[in-house]
Amino acid sequence: MAIRTPVIAGNWKMNTDVVSGLELAREILEQSDGITGVEKIVCPPFVALAGISELLGGSSVHVGAQNVSANENGAYTGEISTSMLEGLVSHVIVGHSERRALYNETSADVAAKAAAVVSAGLIPILCVGEALEIRQAGNAISFVADQLESSLAGYTAWESLIVAYEPVWAIGTGEAATSEQAQEMTAVCREVIRKLAPNAADSVRVLYGGSVNSGNIDELLEQPDIDGALVGGASLKADEFSKLITAAGSA
Ligand code: 13P
Repeated sequence: MAIRTPVIAGNWKMNTDVVSGLELAREILEQSDGITGVEKIVCPPFVALAGISELLGGSSVHVGAQNVSANENGAYTGEISTSMLEGLVSHVIVGHSERRALYNETSADVAAKAAAVVSAGLIPILCVGEALEIRQAGNAISFVADQLESSLAGYTAWESLIVAYEPVWAIGTGEAATSEQAQEMTAVCREVIRKLAPNAADSVRVLYGGSVNSGNIDELLEQPDIDGALVGGASLKADEFSKLITAAGSA
C-alpha cells in the first residue's frame, strides 16, 4: 500500500480580515514551520490571499482557496476564477457542505469546479458528507458514495486530488464523528475512488472534517483510511492548529 503523507488543512471560512489573517498565518508559520512529515495548508478568505501567499511563499505552509468559479474570466459579477488564483494558492476547496447547502451547489457544479481547478494546475480538496437526517435514516454510506462519485464525474487528475469526508452534523457542533464512524466513511470514499481509478485509491489522501481538535486528532489519525483533517474552528487559533500539525507530523 502506498505511504500517504498526512494533510492538515485549515478552512478559515468567513473569518479574519486582511490584517488579522496575516497575523494568524504568521503565527501558524512560526509555530509549525519546523514540523515535518505532514502537509500543512491554510485556506483564508479571498481578500487575504495575496498577503498571506507572499508571507508563506517558499515555506512549508501551503495556501488554498475556499471556493472558485467553474467559469473562465468574464461577466460573472462577484466571482473568482482559477486564473486569478494562479500564483496565490496551490489548493482549492470545492464542494464544501456550506456551499452545497447555502449556495445550492450541486455535485455537477462541484465536478465542474474540480475540473477547472485541475486545468489551472491546482489541487482540489473535494468535500462530501451527509446531513443528520440521512445518517439517522441509515443511508449515510450510499449517500456519500453517490455524492462522491457524481462530484468526481469526468475527473482524471488522480495524482492530484484530496478528498474530505465532512459529515454535516459534525461541522461546528463540537460533536465530532467517532473514529469508527469516520474510518467507516473514509473507507467508503476510498472504495469509490478505487472503482473509478483502481491505481489511485491507495495514494489519494482522504481527510476527515467536523469538530476536529487537539483532543480527538490522535484517535482519528490512527485509523487506516484517515489521512489527516480539514479543520474549521480549531484552525483559527495558531497554537491549537499547530497541535494538530504536530500530531499528524509524528503520526
Ligand atoms: P469545524 O472544524 O469548525 O467543525 O469545521 C469543519 C469544516 O467545515 C472544515 O471545512
